[in-house]
Amino acid sequence: MIELTGLTKRFGEVVGVDCVDLRVEEGAFVTLLGPSGCGKSTLLRMIGGFEEPTEGTISIDGRDVTDLPPNRRPVNMVFQDYALFPHMSVGRNVAYGLKVSGMARSEAAAEARKALDMVGLADRAEAMPHQLSGGQRQRVALARAIVRHPKVLLLDEPLSALDANLREQMQVELRRLHRLVGLTFIMVTHDQSEALAMSDRIVVMRDGRVVQQAAPSELYDKPADAYVAGFVGTTSFFEGEMTRTGLRAFGQTIRAPKDLAPHGRPARFGYRPEKVELRQGHVADGLTGHVDELLYRGDAVRVFVNVGDGRLAVDLQVTDRAATDGLPRPDEAVTIVIPPARLMAFGPAADKAA
Ligand SMILES: Nc1ncnc2c1ncn2[C@@H]1O[C@H](COP(=O)(O)OP(=O)(O)OP(=O)(O)O)[C@@H](O)[C@H]1O
Ligand SMILES: [Mg+2]
Repeated sequence: MIELTGLTKRFGEVVGVDCVDLRVEEGAFVTLLGPSGCGKSTLLRMIGGFEEPTEGTISIDGRDVTDLPPNRRPVNMVFQDYALFPHMSVGRNVAYGLKVSGMARSEAAAEARKALDMVGLADRAEAMPHQLSGGQRQRVALARAIVRHPKVLLLDEPLSALDANLREQMQVELRRLHRLVGLTFIMVTHDQSEALAMSDRIVVMRDGRVVQQAAPSELYDKPADAYVAGFVGTTSFFEGEMTRTGLRAFGQTIRAPKDLAPHGRPARFGYRPEKVELRQGHVADGLTGHVDELLYRGDAVRVFVNVGDGRLAVDLQVTDRAATDGLPRPDEAVTIVIPPARLMAFGPAADKAA
């Protein structure tokens, strides 16, 4: 559906986007994820036609659109500030683009009503933008973008201005909208939990490049490198070395898949804090240390454990029992038991990528 080949954008000396190859399937919900300045908006703007690539090509539906202006591409973009026309009613805001492109007034109004219905604002067509909440304005901007039935909807941090509750509500609505209209969505976010929750595919970027693209569960379970592992979800990292008897770390040896990493060479390893077990005292085949601190987080408690010169994390689900007497105490001796399949390896120890 969308194919980017060698797409590059340089701003003088600054490389905004660096030779990106990407294919997006028709009807997919794809997110571009990465820290501030990694090139997400620039990439999205190039797909939309609002930024001219320095090199590379963009094709949509098998057609090369690299040199086409935004209004001649089958895409629509919702900008982060979703600027609505303040002096126009909600209904006229949504219908505006249709009228400009020559649609009759009554037909445009009817289309606008359909789009507003889809975002749950059918009853607010007469309202003025300033009479709406931030989340409602956001939805008007969405209606305005979908009303022209673009094949691709580009969303640049569409939910970033919303508070946590509204944001989750809008996440659900965006997913529903995506299912309903069957368009291809490409959304930018720097919020990894939002990316995991919403997308079919996540494209992780760093310094203008794509470091990994995968389905959310694959990205979470098999991060390509320490950068992805540290950016998507939480990872506890430690250094160790594979030996014939297992993985040796902090002077202790634990079971590990034989081919986890090359033997006899220091390397970086890690695990997800919620995938491991915490036992009291010393237990064979685990990493024993002492509880440092507990961070209570409502549904879970993150326990930090000092093991040798390292500090590892374990997430415990809070059940009623654990909340009263099951939690470890600071300084208590504990053992982290990591199921071998949950161990991740990240190459030579010198690589402090994350
Ligand atoms: N018009 C411009 N002129 C010069 N440099 C630019 C321009 N637009 C973007 N850049 C640079 O390109 C890089 C990528 O910017 P971009 O806006 O794509 O990042 P981003 O991933 O969207 O970040 P954020 O999460 O902060 O929005 C940054 O280093 C930025 O400073
Ligand atoms: Mg941006």
